[in-house]
Amino acid sequence: MTNLGASQSPSSSEQSSEALRASLGSRAAAVEAMLDRLIPRVEGPEARVIDAMRYATLGGGKRLRGYLVAEVAALFDGAAGEEGAYRAAASVEMLHAYSLVHDDLPAMDDDDLRRGQPSTHRKFDEATAILAGDALQTRAFEVLAETETHPDASVRIQIVLELARASGAAGMVGGQMIDMEGEGRALSLTEVGHLHALKTGCLIRYSAEAGAILGGANPEQRHRIASYGRDIGAAFQIADDVLDATATEEELGKTAGKDLAAEKSTYVALLGIDGARREAEKLADRACHVLDIFGEKADRLRDLARYVVERRS
Ligand code: IPE
Ligand code: IPE
Ligand code: MG
Ligand code: MG
Ligand code: MG
Repeated sequence: MTNLGASQSPSSSEQSSEALRASLGSRAAAVEAMLDRLIPRVEGPEARVIDAMRYATLGGGKRLRGYLVAEVAALFDGAAGEEGAYRAAASVEMLHAYSLVHDDLPAMDDDDLRRGQPSTHRKFDEATAILAGDALQTRAFEVLAETETHPDASVRIQIVLELARASGAAGMVGGQMIDMEGEGRALSLTEVGHLHALKTGCLIRYSAEAGAILGGANPEQRHRIASYGRDIGAAFQIADDVLDATATEEELGKTAGKDLAAEKSTYVALLGIDGARREAEKLADRACHVLDIFGEKADRLRDLARYVVERRS
Protein backbone atom coordinates (compact mmCIF):
# COMPACT_ATOMS: atom_id res chain seq x y z
CA MET A 1 0.00 0.00 0.00
CA THR A 2 1.33 3.43 -0.88
CA ASN A 3 0.81 6.58 1.10
CA LEU A 4 1.15 9.52 -1.25
CA GLY A 5 0.82 12.15 1.46
CA ALA A 6 3.65 10.65 3.50
CA SER A 7 5.92 10.12 0.49
CA GLN A 8 5.62 13.81 -0.43
CA SER A 9 6.43 15.25 2.98
CA PRO A 10 10.07 15.31 4.03
CA SER A 11 11.23 12.53 6.37
CA SER A 12 12.24 13.46 9.90
CA SER A 13 15.91 12.95 9.05
CA GLU A 14 15.54 15.30 6.05
CA GLN A 15 13.87 17.83 8.33
CA SER A 16 16.63 17.65 10.90
CA SER A 17 19.39 17.98 8.33
CA GLU A 18 17.57 21.01 6.88
CA ALA A 19 17.23 22.51 10.37
CA LEU A 20 20.95 21.89 10.99
CA ARG A 21 21.90 23.45 7.65
CA ALA A 22 19.94 26.59 8.50
CA SER A 23 21.38 26.74 12.01
CA LEU A 24 24.97 26.20 10.77
CA GLY A 25 24.47 28.88 8.12
CA SER A 26 23.17 31.55 10.45
CA ARG A 27 25.75 30.90 13.17
CA ALA A 28 28.56 30.80 10.57
CA ALA A 29 27.47 34.23 9.30
CA ALA A 30 27.54 35.61 12.86
CA VAL A 31 31.03 34.13 13.46
CA GLU A 32 32.24 35.62 10.17
CA ALA A 33 30.94 39.08 11.13
CA MET A 34 32.60 38.80 14.54
CA LEU A 35 35.96 37.76 13.01
CA ASP A 36 35.76 40.73 10.65
CA ARG A 37 35.19 43.03 13.66
CA LEU A 38 37.89 41.44 15.83
CA ILE A 39 40.64 41.49 13.17
CA PRO A 40 40.21 44.93 11.62
CA ARG A 41 42.38 46.06 8.70
CA VAL A 42 45.19 48.45 9.60
CA GLU A 43 47.43 50.85 7.69
CA GLY A 44 51.20 50.84 7.96
CA PRO A 45 54.06 48.36 7.74
CA GLU A 46 52.33 45.70 9.88
CA ALA A 47 49.31 45.65 7.52
CA ARG A 48 50.69 42.59 5.70
CA VAL A 49 50.41 40.30 8.72
CA ILE A 50 46.86 41.50 9.41
CA ASP A 51 45.95 40.88 5.77
CA ALA A 52 47.30 37.34 6.10
CA MET A 53 45.35 36.81 9.35
CA ARG A 54 42.16 37.94 7.62
CA TYR A 55 42.95 35.77 4.59
CA ALA A 56 43.38 32.71 6.82
CA THR A 57 40.21 33.25 8.86
CA LEU A 58 37.57 35.00 6.75
CA GLY A 59 35.45 33.63 3.94
CA GLY A 60 35.58 29.91 4.46
CA GLY A 61 35.55 26.87 6.65
CA LYS A 62 32.67 24.94 8.11
CA ARG A 63 32.89 26.87 11.40
CA LEU A 64 32.23 23.67 13.33
CA ARG A 65 34.16 24.82 16.39
CA GLY A 66 32.53 28.25 16.48
CA TYR A 67 29.14 26.62 15.97
CA LEU A 68 29.69 24.37 18.98
CA VAL A 69 30.52 27.28 21.28
CA ALA A 70 27.41 29.23 20.25
CA GLU A 71 24.99 26.29 20.08
CA VAL A 72 26.04 24.88 23.47
CA ALA A 73 25.97 28.33 25.10
CA ALA A 74 22.40 28.71 23.78
CA LEU A 75 21.32 25.65 25.81
CA PHE A 76 21.78 27.78 28.91
CA ASP A 77 20.85 31.32 29.97
CA GLY A 78 24.35 32.52 30.76
CA ALA A 79 25.42 36.08 31.47
CA ALA A 80 27.75 36.06 28.43
CA GLY A 81 24.78 36.43 26.08
CA GLU A 82 25.13 36.18 22.31
CA GLU A 83 27.95 38.74 22.13
CA GLY A 84 30.14 36.75 24.55
CA ALA A 85 29.34 33.45 22.88
CA TYR A 86 30.23 34.75 19.42
CA ARG A 87 33.42 36.34 20.70
CA ALA A 88 34.48 32.97 22.12
CA ALA A 89 33.32 31.30 18.88
CA ALA A 90 35.47 33.69 16.79
CA SER A 91 38.37 33.14 19.20
CA VAL A 92 38.41 29.36 18.71
CA GLU A 93 38.12 29.83 14.94
CA MET A 94 41.26 32.03 15.11
CA LEU A 95 43.10 29.35 17.06
CA HIS A 96 41.94 26.71 14.59
CA ALA A 97 42.93 28.86 11.58
CA TYR A 98 46.41 29.29 13.07
CA SER A 99 46.70 25.50 13.38
CA LEU A 100 45.74 25.11 9.70
CA VAL A 101 48.16 27.81 8.50
CA HIS A 102 51.03 26.08 10.29
CA ASP A 103 49.80 22.56 9.32
CA ASP A 104 50.04 23.55 5.63
CA LEU A 105 53.61 24.88 5.84
CA PRO A 106 56.32 23.06 3.86
CA ALA A 107 57.89 21.90 7.13
CA MET A 108 54.64 20.15 8.05
CA ASP A 109 52.09 18.84 5.49
CA ASP A 110 53.35 21.06 2.66
CA ASP A 111 49.87 21.75 1.32
CA ASP A 112 49.17 24.34 -1.37
CA LEU A 113 45.38 24.40 -1.10
CA ARG A 114 43.12 25.29 1.82
CA ARG A 115 39.41 26.11 1.75
CA GLY A 116 39.52 26.13 -2.04
CA GLN A 117 42.24 28.80 -2.17
CA PRO A 118 46.04 28.89 -2.08
CA SER A 119 47.19 28.15 1.48
CA THR A 120 48.43 31.20 3.39
CA HIS A 121 52.16 30.63 2.76
CA ARG A 122 51.41 30.24 -0.98
CA LYS A 123 49.33 33.43 -1.10
CA PHE A 124 51.84 35.43 0.97
CA ASP A 125 55.15 33.78 1.93
CA GLU A 126 56.36 31.40 4.63
CA ALA A 127 57.55 34.04 7.08
CA THR A 128 54.25 35.93 6.83
CA ALA A 129 52.28 32.69 7.29
CA ILE A 130 54.25 31.80 10.43
CA LEU A 131 53.73 35.28 11.86
CA ALA A 132 50.03 35.34 10.95
CA GLY A 133 49.57 31.99 12.72
CA ASP A 134 51.43 33.29 15.79
CA ALA A 135 49.33 36.46 15.91
CA LEU A 136 46.05 34.57 15.40
CA GLN A 137 46.93 32.44 18.38
CA THR A 138 47.65 35.38 20.68
CA ARG A 139 44.60 37.30 19.42
CA ALA A 140 42.42 34.28 20.27
CA PHE A 141 43.49 34.50 23.93
CA GLU A 142 43.29 38.29 24.01
CA VAL A 143 39.66 38.16 22.87
CA LEU A 144 38.74 35.64 25.59
CA ALA A 145 40.39 37.75 28.30
CA GLU A 146 38.56 40.96 27.36
CA THR A 147 35.60 41.94 29.59
CA GLU A 148 33.16 41.97 26.66
CA THR A 149 33.43 38.16 26.53
CA HIS A 150 31.94 37.66 30.01
CA PRO A 151 31.39 40.05 32.93
CA ASP A 152 32.83 37.56 35.46
CA ALA A 153 36.66 37.41 35.41
CA SER A 154 36.68 33.89 36.90
CA VAL A 155 34.63 32.63 33.93
CA ARG A 156 37.05 34.29 31.52
CA ILE A 157 40.02 32.70 33.29
CA GLN A 158 38.41 29.26 33.01
CA ILE A 159 38.00 29.48 29.24
CA VAL A 160 41.49 30.92 28.80
CA LEU A 161 42.89 28.02 30.84
CA GLU A 162 40.88 25.41 28.96
CA LEU A 163 41.89 26.82 25.57
CA ALA A 164 45.56 26.87 26.60
CA ARG A 165 45.35 23.23 27.69
CA ALA A 166 43.46 22.14 24.58
CA SER A 167 45.81 23.82 22.13
CA GLY A 168 49.25 23.33 23.68
CA ALA A 169 51.67 20.41 24.02
CA ALA A 170 49.07 18.36 25.93
CA GLY A 171 46.51 19.06 23.18
CA MET A 172 46.59 20.11 19.52
CA VAL A 173 50.33 20.85 19.30
CA GLY A 174 51.18 17.55 21.02
CA GLY A 175 48.90 15.75 18.54
CA GLN A 176 50.59 17.45 15.60
CA MET A 177 53.96 16.27 16.96
CA ILE A 178 52.73 12.65 17.21
CA ASP A 179 51.27 12.98 13.70
CA MET A 180 54.62 14.12 12.28
CA GLU A 181 56.54 11.45 14.19
CA GLY A 182 54.10 8.81 12.93
CA GLU A 183 54.82 9.47 9.24
CA GLY A 184 56.20 6.36 7.61
CA ARG A 185 55.81 4.35 10.83
CA ALA A 186 52.84 2.13 11.71
CA LEU A 187 51.14 3.37 14.88
CA SER A 188 48.77 1.02 16.74
CA LEU A 189 45.03 1.69 16.94
CA THR A 190 45.47 2.95 20.51
CA GLU A 191 48.23 5.30 19.40
CA VAL A 192 46.14 6.65 16.51
CA GLY A 193 43.21 7.15 18.90
CA HIS A 194 45.49 9.15 21.19
CA LEU A 195 46.83 11.15 18.23
CA HIS A 196 43.27 12.02 17.12
CA ALA A 197 42.18 12.93 20.63
CA LEU A 198 45.04 15.41 20.92
CA LYS A 199 45.37 16.86 17.44
CA THR A 200 41.65 17.41 16.78
CA GLY A 201 39.58 16.15 19.70
CA CYS A 202 40.92 18.55 22.31
CA LEU A 203 39.95 21.72 20.42
CA ILE A 204 36.52 20.39 19.48
CA ARG A 205 35.91 19.23 23.06
CA TYR A 206 37.07 22.66 24.26
CA SER A 207 34.63 24.40 21.89
CA ALA A 208 31.66 22.53 23.36
CA GLU A 209 32.92 22.98 26.91
CA ALA A 210 33.55 26.71 26.44
CA GLY A 211 29.86 27.09 25.54
CA ALA A 212 28.94 25.27 28.76
CA ILE A 213 31.30 27.39 30.88
CA LEU A 214 30.00 30.64 29.37
CA GLY A 215 26.44 29.42 29.87
CA GLY A 216 27.01 28.67 33.56
CA ALA A 217 26.45 24.90 33.29
CA ASN A 218 26.50 22.85 36.49
CA PRO A 219 29.26 20.18 36.86
CA GLU A 220 27.05 17.33 35.57
CA GLN A 221 25.97 19.32 32.51
CA ARG A 222 29.53 20.44 31.81
CA HIS A 223 30.83 16.89 32.13
CA ARG A 224 28.26 15.60 29.62
CA ILE A 225 28.94 18.40 27.14
CA ALA A 226 32.69 17.71 27.41
CA SER A 227 32.15 14.04 26.73
CA TYR A 228 29.90 14.83 23.74
CA GLY A 229 32.65 17.14 22.39
CA ARG A 230 35.36 14.54 22.92
CA ASP A 231 33.44 11.91 20.97
CA ILE A 232 32.43 14.11 18.05
CA GLY A 233 36.00 15.42 17.92
CA ALA A 234 37.35 11.89 17.53
CA ALA A 235 34.62 11.06 14.99
CA PHE A 236 35.42 14.25 13.09
CA GLN A 237 39.08 13.33 12.58
CA ILE A 238 38.18 9.78 11.50
CA ALA A 239 35.80 11.31 8.94
CA ASP A 240 38.58 13.69 7.81
CA ASP A 241 40.86 10.70 7.22
CA VAL A 242 38.08 8.83 5.35
CA LEU A 243 37.45 11.90 3.19
CA ASP A 244 41.17 12.25 2.48
CA ALA A 245 40.97 8.76 0.97
CA THR A 246 37.55 9.01 -0.74
CA ALA A 247 36.63 12.60 -1.65
CA THR A 248 37.85 14.85 -4.46
CA GLU A 249 39.88 18.03 -4.20
CA GLU A 250 36.79 19.99 -5.41
CA GLU A 251 34.62 18.56 -2.63
CA LEU A 252 37.26 19.13 0.04
CA GLY A 253 38.77 22.45 -1.03
CA LYS A 254 42.10 20.90 0.00
CA THR A 255 44.42 18.33 -1.53
CA ALA A 256 43.01 14.78 -1.38
CA GLY A 257 45.05 11.62 -0.88
CA LYS A 258 47.73 13.35 1.17
CA ASP A 259 47.68 10.89 4.08
CA LEU A 260 48.50 7.85 1.96
CA ALA A 261 51.20 9.77 0.09
CA ALA A 262 52.80 10.87 3.37
CA GLU A 263 52.35 7.38 4.89
CA LYS A 264 50.36 8.82 7.78
CA SER A 265 48.99 6.49 10.41
CA THR A 266 45.20 6.81 10.22
CA TYR A 267 42.13 4.72 11.09
CA VAL A 268 41.71 4.18 7.35
CA ALA A 269 45.21 2.69 7.13
CA LEU A 270 44.48 0.39 10.09
CA LEU A 271 40.78 -0.52 9.70
CA GLY A 272 40.00 0.22 6.06
CA ILE A 273 37.39 2.73 4.92
CA ASP A 274 34.32 0.79 6.13
CA GLY A 275 35.90 -0.07 9.46
CA ALA A 276 36.87 3.56 10.03
CA ARG A 277 33.33 4.73 9.13
CA ARG A 278 31.81 2.26 11.61
CA GLU A 279 34.11 3.52 14.35
CA ALA A 280 33.06 7.13 13.64
CA GLU A 281 29.36 6.13 13.72
CA LYS A 282 29.83 4.42 17.08
CA LEU A 283 31.36 7.57 18.51
CA ALA A 284 28.53 9.72 17.11
CA ASP A 285 25.90 7.43 18.68
CA ARG A 286 27.61 7.66 22.05
CA ALA A 287 27.83 11.46 21.69
CA CYS A 288 24.05 11.65 21.12
CA HIS A 289 23.16 9.48 24.13
CA VAL A 290 25.11 11.57 26.57
CA LEU A 291 22.91 14.57 25.67
CA ASP A 292 19.71 12.87 26.94
CA ILE A 293 19.33 15.17 29.95
CA PHE A 294 19.02 18.23 27.69
CA GLY A 295 15.93 16.95 25.85
CA GLU A 296 14.82 18.55 22.58
CA LYS A 297 16.92 21.66 23.17
CA ALA A 298 19.95 19.60 22.13
CA ASP A 299 18.47 18.35 18.85
CA ARG A 300 20.80 20.44 16.67
CA LEU A 301 23.80 19.06 18.59
CA ARG A 302 22.53 15.52 17.89
CA ASP A 303 22.09 16.41 14.20
CA LEU A 304 25.64 17.77 14.25
CA ALA A 305 27.01 14.45 15.54
CA ARG A 306 25.41 12.71 12.51
CA TYR A 307 26.63 15.42 10.13
CA VAL A 308 30.20 15.08 11.39
CA VAL A 309 30.37 11.47 10.17
CA GLU A 310 28.17 11.79 7.05
CA ARG A 311 29.64 15.02 5.61
CA ARG A 312 31.26 15.08 2.16
CA SER A 313 33.49 18.11 2.74
C1 IPE B 1 40.46 20.57 9.26
O1 IPE B 1 39.43 21.04 10.05
C2 IPE B 1 41.56 20.08 10.12
C3 IPE B 1 41.17 18.99 11.02
C4 IPE B 1 41.31 19.06 12.28
C5 IPE B 1 40.65 17.75 10.46
P1 IPE B 1 38.06 21.46 9.42
O2 IPE B 1 37.58 20.40 8.46
O3 IPE B 1 37.12 21.86 10.51
O4 IPE B 1 38.44 22.75 8.56
P2 IPE B 1 37.58 23.98 8.12
O5 IPE B 1 37.60 24.97 9.27
O6 IPE B 1 36.18 23.53 7.82
O7 IPE B 1 38.28 24.53 6.90
C1 IPE C 1 45.37 18.73 11.02
O1 IPE C 1 45.07 17.46 10.59
C2 IPE C 1 44.87 18.96 12.34
C3 IPE C 1 45.33 20.26 12.87
C4 IPE C 1 45.59 20.37 14.12
C5 IPE C 1 45.50 21.42 12.01
P1 IPE C 1 45.21 17.23 9.02
O2 IPE C 1 46.59 17.54 8.56
O3 IPE C 1 44.63 15.91 8.68
O4 IPE C 1 44.23 18.38 8.50
P2 IPE C 1 43.98 18.70 6.96
O5 IPE C 1 43.51 17.40 6.34
O6 IPE C 1 45.26 19.22 6.41
O7 IPE C 1 42.88 19.73 7.02
MG1 MG D 1 48.50 17.52 9.36
MG1 MG E 1 47.16 18.70 6.79
MG1 MG F 1 43.44 15.46 6.96
